[in-house]
Amino acid sequence: MLNKETLIEALKTKKAHIGVLGLGYVGLPLAVVFAEAGFHVTGVDPDPRKVDCLNKGVSYIPDVRTEAVEKLVKSGNLTATADFSVLKEIDAVSICVPTPLRKTGDPDMSFILSATDELAKYIHKGMVVVLESTTYPGTTREVLLPKLGVEHGLTVGEDWFLAFSPERVDPGREDFTTINTPKVMGGITEACGEVATAWYEGAIQKIHRVSSAEAAEMAKLLENTFRMINIGLVNELAIMCERLGVDVWEVIDAAATKPFGFMKFTPGPGLGGHCIPIDPLYLSWKMKTFHYNARFIELASEINTNMPRYVVSRVMEALNDRSKALKGSKVLVLGAAYKPDIDDIRESPALDVIGLLQKKGALVEYHDPYIPHIHHETDGWYLESVKDVMKSVKEADAVVIITNHKDYDYKAIVESSKFVFDSRNATREFAKSIEKVVRL
Ligand SMILES: NC(=O)c1ccc[n+]([C@@H]2O[C@H](COP(=O)([O-])OP(=O)(O)OC[C@H]3O[C@@H](n4cnc5c(N)ncnc54)[C@H](O)[C@@H]3O)[C@@H](O)[C@H]2O)c1
Repeated sequence: MLNKETLIEALKTKKAHIGVLGLGYVGLPLAVVFAEAGFHVTGVDPDPRKVDCLNKGVSYIPDVRTEAVEKLVKSGNLTATADFSVLKEIDAVSICVPTPLRKTGDPDMSFILSATDELAKYIHKGMVVVLESTTYPGTTREVLLPKLGVEHGLTVGEDWFLAFSPERVDPGREDFTTINTPKVMGGITEACGEVATAWYEGAIQKIHRVSSAEAAEMAKLLENTFRMINIGLVNELAIMCERLGVDVWEVIDAAATKPFGFMKFTPGPGLGGHCIPIDPLYLSWKMKTFHYNARFIELASEINTNMPRYVVSRVMEALNDRSKALKGSKVLVLGAAYKPDIDDIRESPALDVIGLLQKKGALVEYHDPYIPHIHHETDGWYLESVKDVMKSVKEADAVVIITNHKDYDYKAIVESSKFVFDSRNATREFAKSIEKVVRL
């Protein structure tokens, strides 16, 4: 059995066996970074398709190159399994499972709970566990600590070690990746932080230690709440500018010339992705248990959630100005991913925009080079990305730009279209004075 000193030694010399629970957008890049640093890494995921893919040396995450996975699988540094019993041989475990919301808007902790329950069957002395999933402050201490330590008679900080380190990966980004984005680390005890830092320092360039797991949990929520609130602010600014007859994009560009004290955020059709629309609600939910109403979060969430409806109402008005009703009009939604140049559709505002357009009686098509089809289970609709985008552009009464993928030739799209609603300012270079283009 490893004690603190021998565990640190095993981590520093890369002899410790690493496990990553959850091999998604966060877990796979992290597993690859550990394996590339020289650790022997086993990824554990209940999804057999991911496990099969990985063991064949194939990546299913755009940011992770297949050649990198293939090399690591061949060298034996990276393997995957759906069998959790492998955890009994593992020294260090990162948990990267999803933390979505329930339909009611409350945190869905089921994945953290199921991963913790599986891990609890194999927890042993000399193990270090790091939770990476974004969650409310207190999760590591209130949920993981009793299930993994207290219930097994293991003393945290002596027999085993527990910490929280939030993942900051930004899918599609090339300048900052898992390896060179500083990582915040907060242990349940001082010794926990020390062990977890010794492990992560072997693979990631900079670790920023904080004094507790709660500080690390809260730091992540500050980062994402900061973005959510600032996006809410510029979205409201866009609504105000439209009423005033002022170009919001010009206003933001002008403000952004200030070299200090201002940070540029841009409006859009609503928030998307697995993080920004969701994570702050984990904090506001937790604060309710303290009878505290997180007003900034609630307000920004309300504004951002209404943006798809606002976009649809602007499209409807613009068609009306052209003597057309939305009902019965052909509308092509361009881009469905929640942000440019990625294939992730989770929480994408395109889903709401398409659903709302359909409800108003529009004949909706969409195109996205990264998303071949969309099955909206809750609303019960299924669409396939149109094959010939320029043909659909020509035929549509309205083209609605939702995601500004780089692949699109916006000039050609505008030239071939009857009318474009641009929610992302993708046509900024040439369309300012073109009457058939209306921008958010
Ligand atoms: N995607 C991002 O850009 C991003 C960025 C920062 C933080 N995060 C956070 O990281 C966490 C993971 O997000 P993600 O985008 O990687 O999710 P994901 O859905 O892409 O991947 C999660 C994986 O966990 C697996 N899983 C589910 N239950 C499991 C269990 N009991 N044991 C082991 N594996 C299990 C799933 O099969 C899936 O492969 C979330 O808390 C998210 O908020 C995500």
